Amino acid sequence: MANSPTIVVLIGYMGSGKSVVGQLLAKQLNIPFVDADAHLESETQQTISEIFNQKGELGFRKMERQMLHELLNTSSEKVISLGGGAPCYFDNMNIILDKATQVVYLDVSIPVLVDRLWLGKNHRPVIAHIDSKESLTEFVGKHLFERRPFYRKSPIAITINMQTPDEIVSKILKKL
Ligand code: S3P
Repeated sequence: MANSPTIVVLIGYMGSGKSVVGQLLAKQLNIPFVDADAHLESETQQTISEIFNQKGELGFRKMERQMLHELLNTSSEKVISLGGGAPCYFDNMNIILDKATQVVYLDVSIPVLVDRLWLGKNHRPVIAHIDSKESLTEFVGKHLFERRPFYRKSPIAITINMQTPDEIVSKILKKL
């Protein structure tokens, strides 16, 4: 990693493991970890679902964008795990690519994503309304089709199948 300070940004679809992997990666790099959604929740004292309910998705996206700017425009080192939609709105992905030292896309297959998301879908307002696993599979397939062009701008992509979080972190460290 050439630039300083070190800011590593993890991106990928909901359920791709950004928070777990980000925490472990930050530990390995010995720098702080920031989960962008958790950060927004603590700043606003509201859950992401409450923000969606009160301000609508557009309101959430504006707050997400503002927070992204704040996180990337500081001089402190960190690993940031972003919400799955963050790279796909406004000019966010260009800003991420411009400001981060490195951007890593966690690329997880649709069936694995669906298995993970089905269990905790009620906490995620984008998919909370979906009432069967088949509909979730269809939704994720279409949604990823729209979002992948943004994710794939990332210089580093890690294809994830059955690896453990530690194995994923080792893979990332080799590529940084
Ligand atoms: C979203 C992903 C969520 C959160 C919000 C919207 C999305 O984050 O930001 O519910 O549009 O993909 P995770 O990717 O951490 O679930």
